[in-house]
Amino acid sequence: MKKLSVIMIFLFIVTFLTISCKNEPMKEKSQGIDPVKLWSKITKESNYTKWSFWPDHKGMKPGVAPHGPLHKVFVNKLALNAKKAPLPYGSIVVKENYSKAKELKAITVMYKIKDYNPTKGDWFWAKYTPKGKADKFGKPKGCVNCHGAKADNDHVMVRTIK
Ligand code: HEC
Repeated sequence: MKKLSVIMIFLFIVTFLTISCKNEPMKEKSQGIDPVKLWSKITKESNYTKWSFWPDHKGMKPGVAPHGPLHKVFVNKLALNAKKAPLPYGSIVVKENYSKAKELKAITVMYKIKDYNPTKGDWFWAKYTPKGKADKFGKPKGCVNCHGAKADNDHVMVRTIK
């Protein structure tokens, strides 16, 4: 009988530890910041290629390093309709990055999530291959620091939000 209760207590502890360890990534995913889910959100749930351009940044435009020589920037309705910085939570900005020969090379995304990164504009950053594999995501220093130069414009580079 004694042996049995020792085993029971052991099993209980193992179960408890397993559940509490799994909790962390689960929490992140439920906030919508899993790059796989974000990709599905911008391709299946609502296809970003059908979204609008900002009225003063339409179609294919020249860009600078590190993003590549040509790009298109698509925005969801929340970002499109915003009249001033900061953009509202839920805003998504998707940038297609092209080579000089107009070949799609990468897709970079900014997704505004409440309390995700409060001192840096609460943006979740991701860089995908054209097939949707996330190369970089989260709070990569490169993205955060360079775009930080436009913190007063909510980290948006291509246009002034007004
Ligand atoms: C060295 C500076 C620099 C770095 C690093 C950088 N960006 Fe950018 N980003 C820019 C500039 C400049 C633009 C304006 C468009 C252009 O020139 O291509 C831009 C535009 C964008 C846009 C379109 C919205 C906007 O802000 O204008 C997105 C989305 C974006 N970048 C995502 C990312 C992601 C994701 C990363 C990291 C993987 C990243 N950027 C890293 C400089 C940078």
